[in-house]
Amino acid sequence: MTLLSLLHVEASYGGGRVLNGVSLRLAAGEVVALMGRNGMGKTTTVRAIMGLAPWMRGQIMFAGRDIGQSAPHRIARAGIGLVPEGRHVFANLTVRENLIATARAGRGWSLERVLELLPQLGARYGAMARTLSGGEQQMLAIGRALLTNPSLLILDEATEGLSPKLRDEIYACLAAVRQSGMAVLLIDKHVAALSRLADRTIILEKGRVTWEGTAAELPSDATALSALGL
Ligand SMILES: Nc1ncnc2c1ncn2[C@@H]1O[C@H](COP(=O)(O)OP(=O)(O)O)[C@@H](O)[C@H]1O
Ligand SMILES: [Mg+2]
Repeated sequence: MTLLSLLHVEASYGGGRVLNGVSLRLAAGEVVALMGRNGMGKTTTVRAIMGLAPWMRGQIMFAGRDIGQSAPHRIARAGIGLVPEGRHVFANLTVRENLIATARAGRGWSLERVLELLPQLGARYGAMARTLSGGEQQMLAIGRALLTNPSLLILDEATEGLSPKLRDEIYACLAAVRQSGMAVLLIDKHVAALSRLADRTIILEKGRVTWEGTAAELPSDATALSALGL
């Protein structure tokens, strides 16, 4: 069953067109990696989905509803959780306060279960978010998104600036999220890890989808990947 679909989505910030007709699909429970070099339109695609693009045209359907013209809070309530690029946790709230700020009872992600998945958060439970390391802040952003109990979790630059060890922890956490049946749209630069985690990869180049395929279809050598726009 299709959970999210974009059809000919165009977007701009007032200057030139940034998305030039993005069409993509994501099934319920599917993990899709959205890849592409810097400036190709990944974050803008996420903004368009979340209702945060300044100008957007085309169709965006989520769980059978047209959300293309919906307000961001309605889109979030419809069941899309976002871990934004740069994390954006509430710096002057504690870990606990960040987690409960947007929590919504639903299909299974309770505070207890999130702390079980991300024990680092329990260890820093009363600390101000601004005192956390980059990795801890990313885990907090993921925990916060999970607690809204979305059916789709979107992570924009999921492991940017993190050490290989922390990256692996994030990937392990996402593997557990995937086990729970949640769909994931994952933006990340680490092709090897993604091809293990994702069912499918979509590559964006200059605001267009230029390649789509399974992990097995993705070439493994750098030259071929570069030719695909990675
Ligand atoms: N707030 C903004 N105002 C104007 N142009 C922007 C803004 N954000 C992004 N852009 C431009 O849109 C294009 C796509 O950016 P973005 O979606 O952030 O790419 P990616 O996430 O793939 O790195 C880039 O050329 C970028 O310069
Ligand atoms: Mg980006």
